[in-house]
Parts: sequence; C-alpha cells; structure tokens
Amino acid sequence: MFRSMRDAKAGARLSFTFDGRPLTGREGDTVTASLLANGVTACRETPVSGVPRAPYCLMGVCFDCLVVIDGIGNRQGCLVPLREGMRIETQHGRRQPEEVYG
Ligand code: FES
Repeated sequence: MFRSMRDAKAGARLSFTFDGRPLTGREGDTVTASLLANGVTACRETPVSGVPRAPYCLMGVCFDCLVVIDGIGNRQGCLVPLREGMRIETQHGRRQPEEVYG
C-alpha cells in the first residue's frame, strides 16, 4: 500500500477528478502520487492485451503511469504536478494520432 512520507498537513488541498470521480490531493504532489494516495492503483491499460498497469518507478522511467490529463493522452503522471481542477482519466490502449496532431 502506498503511503506518503510527507507531513499530511503540507500543501494546500486540490480538487481533481479521476474517471469522473471527485478526489482531493495535495499541492506539491504529482498526479501519480495523488492517485495512489486515493487508492487508485491502475491508471492505464496495455495497448496489446488491455491488462491494467500500475505506476512502478515513480521517476519517469517505466511509463506505467500513463494517463489522460485534460484530454491529452500519454502523460506521465509521475512527472506532472497536480493542479486544481485537473481532469485525469485512465489511458485505454495507445494514444490516437488525432490526439497528437489535432
Ligand atoms: S511511474 Fe514509472 S514512469 Fe511514471
């Protein structure tokens, strides 16, 4: 189970959603840390088999933390600071070309 080592009082409370579910996190935490702190362990599915994947390295190496943030896919949640009002969604499969080129 994930548990933050930072003081629980540190950072302002921020509101965000994950797959439409309202959650709260702390200013200064990453998207991935905020999801884990809320008990969200799977944030993407593999493009080939659809198997759910969970964040692993928390430092930008494994790419198992990919999520859709405010409609933009393939975002590494472990490298993105949480912001007020973020709309975070599970990444299903691979990113589509129209997401990249509009
Ligand atoms: S958790 Fe490994 S790259 Fe984000």
